[in-house]
Amino acid sequence: MNHFLSLDQIAGNELRNMLDQARVIKDARNGQPKGTKDADAPLAGHVVALIFEKPSTRTRVSFDVGVRQLGGESLLLSGQEMQLGHGETIADTAKVLSRYVDLIMIRTFEEATLQEMADNATVPVINGLTNDTHPCQIMADLLTLHEKLGDMKGRKVVWLGDGNNVCNSYFHAAGQFGFDMTFCGPENLQPDMRAVEFARERGVNVKISENPEEAVKGADLLVTDTWVSMHDAESARQRRHNLLRPYQVNADLMKTAGTQAYFTHCLPAHRNEEVTSEILDGQQSLAFDAAENRLHAQKAVMRWCLGV
Ligand code: CP
Repeated sequence: MNHFLSLDQIAGNELRNMLDQARVIKDARNGQPKGTKDADAPLAGHVVALIFEKPSTRTRVSFDVGVRQLGGESLLLSGQEMQLGHGETIADTAKVLSRYVDLIMIRTFEEATLQEMADNATVPVINGLTNDTHPCQIMADLLTLHEKLGDMKGRKVVWLGDGNNVCNSYFHAAGQFGFDMTFCGPENLQPDMRAVEFARERGVNVKISENPEEAVKGADLLVTDTWVSMHDAESARQRRHNLLRPYQVNADLMKTAGTQAYFTHCLPAHRNEEVTSEILDGQQSLAFDAAENRLHAQKAVMRWCLGV
């Protein structure tokens, strides 16, 4: 079963093949109206359940449009409106949905929930974000980075701020694609050390820093994310803002990084908090290209899951 759960659990050559296919899929759509199907319509006759237990704009729309362009049908489901939100187990939900649909994408809280869904489904499951990982976002980022930089091996990526789920998946990707990975942020907001170790064990040049001016020099990419994630307590907002303010990506920091450096952000952004509008909208920003590439990358992921 080709589940797409986390970038550390899939062979590197499989991930590379998915990105190669994403490039072909993207090129083939050049100039086509968004509402038309891909020429080969490989998901014709397939139904995909898209389950959201947390809010979403990009993941929701890009998966929905992606399924339609691949010729399939999608079901957008809110966890709260399903029995799942009222006590039915994930295991039972997985068993039942597998009788109706060919593929399940779920955005949920705990990684264990995702795993339980995969363990009990008899169809492939895709991780649309958990508190710990966000592999679909990083596939889109890798597609975008390849368009600008080619092979990522030996490139230098610097994550600034909170070591959150997206940051963890960046460390997994570093382990798979061989780029240098620096985390620069407060000591008590570092990423999951298992993700860091995954990269280190594969020979990645990993750095942990609290000094943004030092960390960004010569970087190929600066990445950040919101200072308060969807699963963080609202009461922690002020403390997190105070801790993370020194890691804001702004014009001074981009200048220190150098003109070769790109910037990205998975969005939604909190403008003038973790990144200034000048940088998010500026020449070095890839954030909106990466948002588009969610569509193309996820179409390749869905095709890999279904073997079509
Ligand atoms: N980046 C991302 O996953 O966006 P959404 O939360 O809007 O899906």
